[in-house]
Amino acid sequence: MHPVLPEPKCSGNPFSIMYPHSQQPALAKTVIFQTKAWKQPFSPQAGKQEDEIMTSVTDITPKGYRIAPHEHSRRLQVVTLQADTIAEFIRQTERFPVQALEYKPFNRFRVAEILDSLCEYTLGKFLLGTLKNRATGAFLLKFEGGDKKDTDFFVKLGTAVSHLIGRPNFDAMSQKYYARFTVRNVDNSDSYLRQPHRRMELHNDGTFVDEPTDYVLMMKMQEENMQGGNSLILHLDDWAELDKFYNHPIAKKPITWEAPPSKNVTQSIEHPVFIDNDPNGRPRLHFIDQFAKPKNREEGLYLFELGESLENDPNFVSVRVEVGDMLVVENHNWLHGRDKFVAHPDLLRELMRQRGQFVA
Ligand SMILES: [Fe+2]
Repeated sequence: MHPVLPEPKCSGNPFSIMYPHSQQPALAKTVIFQTKAWKQPFSPQAGKQEDEIMTSVTDITPKGYRIAPHEHSRRLQVVTLQADTIAEFIRQTERFPVQALEYKPFNRFRVAEILDSLCEYTLGKFLLGTLKNRATGAFLLKFEGGDKKDTDFFVKLGTAVSHLIGRPNFDAMSQKYYARFTVRNVDNSDSYLRQPHRRMELHNDGTFVDEPTDYVLMMKMQEENMQGGNSLILHLDDWAELDKFYNHPIAKKPITWEAPPSKNVTQSIEHPVFIDNDPNGRPRLHFIDQFAKPKNREEGLYLFELGESLENDPNFVSVRVEVGDMLVVENHNWLHGRDKFVAHPDLLRELMRQRGQFVA
């Protein structure tokens, strides 16, 4: 039985074009071939049957929060921290302003410990278990109470959650362990990250860095005059043409990936579109359309058709992320993207992201 009831919605994308690679500045200094990072064993539960996995996730009894499946997908778990949990978290973390989290990495684990202790050590287990389970692999975390305009608190709560599931990688774009970026009605940047009037294509993160990116946390910090712009996510097992592209001769061959200047990553890297680190041989994807640098027509057409297939697949989940919510996905079993916004001269949307590695 298929575990997901996706939102019936057209995903036609008039902007589904390849990035003009020839216009990208030549940044490459070195090329690193496929590293061990892409071959590290992943989920110890990857071989379980999906029904068994769904049961094991729901075995945990939540304390200080509620859990429920998302209205559009059973895979996506909605976790709501209760107001008393939040109030006590705010009280116990008063001595850790954002600067204290930025300057001393061990403080980040301390705020995570405080949050987990308030949930009788069930929250970390549930969140990490949810991400590592192939059948689920994503949660939308909300909270009650608190101040929905206190973005410093958002950073603190996001940091606690990120350190319950792992450890964020250094974000070269922001030069911190997290990045905050804003979408406005106009954009002069060099990637689709901040462009408002087009759909940001489905992709995985960390394609152009030489370190594992197991999870991606995206938290809504603020928004004004926003219509549209929902987060879009697609689970690999819901992608209708997965087998066609997974069984293609190019699926496991190294592709070159290279980021634009704003990412502050000057190396090129090589890895296949499908990475080889599931102990049970299940497909895992490591793809982003903008930063692939095909070496020949064969690679170019494979990547083009793969991108077209993803953008036209109807089984994505459209997720409304309210201010203060965070959407967290396992990075290689889920793709993520963003729907386009309705134009407005005063459009403003700010997100925080943390992406990192599982450490437990
Ligand atoms: Fe992304």
